[in-house]
Amino acid sequence: MSRVLVVGFGGREHALAWALARSPEVEYVFVAPGNAGTAWAGRAGFAPSKNVPIQPGDVPALIDFARANGVDLVVIGAEAPIAAGITDQLSAAGLSVFAPTQAAGEIESSKAFAKDFMKRHGIPTAEYGVFTDYESAVAYVRSLEKPFVIKADGLAAGKGVLLPDTGDEAAAILWEIFSGDLFGAAGDKVIIEERLTGREVSLLAFSDGETVLPMPPARDHKRIHDGDQGANTGGMGAFAPVTDLSADEIAHITRTILEPTVRGMAAEGRRYVGVLYAGLMLTPDGVRVLEFNCRFGDPEAQAILPLLDSSLYAVLSACVDGRLTSVRWKDGACAAVVLASAGYPGLYSKGLPISGLERVPEDILVFHAGTTRKDGQIITAGGRVLAVTAVADSLALAITRAYEGVEYIHFDGMQFRRDIGSKP
Ligand code: AMP
Ligand code: GLY
Repeated sequence: MSRVLVVGFGGREHALAWALARSPEVEYVFVAPGNAGTAWAGRAGFAPSKNVPIQPGDVPALIDFARANGVDLVVIGAEAPIAAGITDQLSAAGLSVFAPTQAAGEIESSKAFAKDFMKRHGIPTAEYGVFTDYESAVAYVRSLEKPFVIKADGLAAGKGVLLPDTGDEAAAILWEIFSGDLFGAAGDKVIIEERLTGREVSLLAFSDGETVLPMPPARDHKRIHDGDQGANTGGMGAFAPVTDLSADEIAHITRTILEPTVRGMAAEGRRYVGVLYAGLMLTPDGVRVLEFNCRFGDPEAQAILPLLDSSLYAVLSACVDGRLTSVRWKDGACAAVVLASAGYPGLYSKGLPISGLERVPEDILVFHAGTTRKDGQIITAGGRVLAVTAVADSLALAITRAYEGVEYIHFDGMQFRRDIGSKP
């Protein structure tokens, strides 16, 4: 029997811990540091989980804990620790880690690397230029006749893409980026690229460094308000599978995007083990890669993992050992509705009591994100607080059931989108 340590504290990490606890090989799950939802007693067919008060950045403490507790596999949730090299450090300490190395993770942590890599390997993406100074960037945007977008090179927590409408607006934005005001060091380099149009799909895949197997395609809802209005967030809800990609199209994307990416990374000495997340746009001219991420999406993980029929532990260890052969998925669909704090994605308050969690019917999954426990009461502790998730035979039923779950839950100022999944 195996012991697993999940590193992180969001809804994605709760979904990972939950799916690992259902894996027959797992006897114990640890989550560092976790949240109010990631600790539970075990029961038949479901391993116990315990929170460990160690932050993802404290790698020496994670190593000590994993060694002292016989951890067989460490699973990293978020991109920041990967970009900081957590995989390399844990591996050097002799631990098995499911996550890309720092070098492989550059596919997310440097957009300039990702774009140049795609160009080198013929992977379809928007036309672009990379700039390190204000004058040449402005000269370039002024020369463009088509609409464009501006992106910061480094990690910017989902806020690094800007869509100016005029050359003057673009010049003002570029000034702010190069002065360091907008993104700090993440904006030392900018990418200016052709603006694409079309529906977006998140296609995530498991990779063992050679074999890459896609998950059901998912769709995130990034804006705060219904109808894709308002500010960008980390994601207000997701569902899977999306219905506008056929099995043939997924096979085509696997051959033309996922496989060449994993092969190309190996050829460049950046063997890619972990989740490869392709953010795609279905343009009138074909599929284009908007970005790669080096980990599960949040809330995509909450909408994808409940559909997994294989043991997550078996799949992740097969990736780490370079022997990934197959992954089974359930029929049906899954929808996850995020409940957020008032004010999110701007300033929001914390510490508000959450009620009704114990009344939510058992078939509805409530993945915790920004929650903590105080004096026995579960309270809010972040912008995105919970993801209420349901699996059903059809997407329509999954959405209905997830929203039924939302009805039981309350905290002051709770906001959520009412249109998750309405554009299947
Ligand atoms: P990224 O962080 O690169 O995925 O970009 C975040 C969001 O910005 C995407 O989900 C798109 O909605 C938008 N975006 C990024 N690149 C482009 C592009 N070339 N054209 C149009 N929209 C884009
Ligand atoms: N939900 C988008 C992401 O995790 O990057």
